[in-house]
Amino acid sequence: MGNIAIRTVNLGKLFYLNQKKRGKLRETLEEKIRLSLKHLFTALSPDAKKNEKKHPFANKHIWALKNVSFEVKHGEAVGILGHNGAGKSVLLKILSQVTKPTEGYAEIHGRVGAMLEVGTGFHPELTGRENIYLSGAILGMTRREIKTKFDEIVEFSEIGDLLDMPIKYYSSGMQGRLAFAVAVHLEPEILLIDEVLAIEDISFKEKCLSKLKEIVREGRTVLFVSHNMDSLKTLCNRAILLERGKIVFDGDIKKAISKYLSGNPDAKL
Ligand SMILES: Nc1ncnc2c1ncn2[C@@H]1O[C@H](COP(=O)(O)OP(=O)(O)O)[C@@H](O)[C@H]1O
Ligand SMILES: [Mg+2]
Repeated sequence: MGNIAIRTVNLGKLFYLNQKKRGKLRETLEEKIRLSLKHLFTALSPDAKKNEKKHPFANKHIWALKNVSFEVKHGEAVGILGHNGAGKSVLLKILSQVTKPTEGYAEIHGRVGAMLEVGTGFHPELTGRENIYLSGAILGMTRREIKTKFDEIVEFSEIGDLLDMPIKYYSSGMQGRLAFAVAVHLEPEILLIDEVLAIEDISFKEKCLSKLKEIVREGRTVLFVSHNMDSLKTLCNRAILLERGKIVFDGDIKKAISKYLSGNPDAKL
């Protein structure tokens, strides 16, 4: 087991589509009335039931991931590819224990640093400074250890005066900057990076990429979600291609990219 950083076995994640993304399921009175009227209507009219079946959301659930099994060795840099909705972010959230799988399990051997979708990972009411300490504490670092990294994080993120403002007032780009800076500077053994898309500033993106290259060179384990094929090629030798929650390819980065760009998961390589 010593060589394995990440192992997932038959990971599956089921979502119910009436569950709001990010928010809690809040069944308001209005919603209750709307649903009961709908049920009444469906009961009275058999045609409505037929139409409902044809609707893509008719069964009201989606397997965001299904039977996802793979292994990543320590020191590997693996790209995660897939069109929107393929399950990339959900996979990273499971690996960083932000969310639990419905089926299967994931083993992680090492300290994880993660830059997830904007809005995940930070506490919105706490300031940037407090969130840096909180993230370090979650990683099991002492206050003193975090202190030694603190200035580097602030300097890298270029958030300046925002440091003592609650995160909820940050733009998504600024949250992304801080999340990236925290993830890479708190010395994770395994780094999970969801697309750096939220950061629109080109020169900052370049800075992130060169930092990632440095981390890969140091031999740390990286899982990197990106739609930028050039960055994927420079960082990773291997990629996992997801289509509608399933792994359709796992192997050489160039082959994965050509399969992804062909738009047809069954395309011959
Ligand atoms: N909290 C949620 N509630 C319901 N559906 C969700 C939730 N999170 C993700 N999904 C659905 O799961 C699928 C995979 O999402 P995601 O992992 O975000 O895709 P992407 O590959 O673009 O990152 C999508 O169909 C998405 O709508
Ligand atoms: Mg995503």
